[in-house]
Amino acid sequence: MRRLIFYSGMRRCGALCPIFALARSAALWYAVYMEDKEFYERQAELARANAYAPYSGYSVGACVVCKDGAYYTGCNVENASYGATMCAERNAVAAAVAAGQREIEAVYLVSSGRDMPYPCGICRQVLAEFGNPSVFVRNADGRRDVATLAELLPNGFCLRK
Ligand code: THU
Repeated sequence: MRRLIFYSGMRRCGALCPIFALARSAALWYAVYMEDKEFYERQAELARANAYAPYSGYSVGACVVCKDGAYYTGCNVENASYGATMCAERNAVAAAVAAGQREIEAVYLVSSGRDMPYPCGICRQVLAEFGNPSVFVRNADGRRDVATLAELLPNGFCLRK
């Protein structure tokens, strides 16, 4: 709703001067983009609250955003056998794929610790299967970083489909 009010206000102003209209519409899309980023990061935060991480104590939440804007969340689920542990982003990717998605545009990751939750090697390879998403990470102190998957996984393995 906030967006709609903002948008109709901008359109009315834009009718007076086309240059202002252009500048305003750029500002609008930036505002919407920032609002979306906050929203998806918040969804990752909500998923993190359900993380099962009794062994590492490091909880992670993920929000995977697909081409059509639909999003899917996941958290890390650890296991006594350690090796059976599932990372947050891989669980979110599995949920997206189970819903019929095949193209991932962005991934938001938030962690409970000071270490930045960059995806592990396996998760990078799993994400590469479904596109070249922007990967947004945020740690417990609020420190943020962003990189494309291609930057995180140069020369990732792929087979022709
Ligand atoms: N972990 C994730 O869920 N995602 C990441 O991006 C990095 C690591 C989890 C796996 C394990 O439960 C814990 O963090 C410590 O490695």
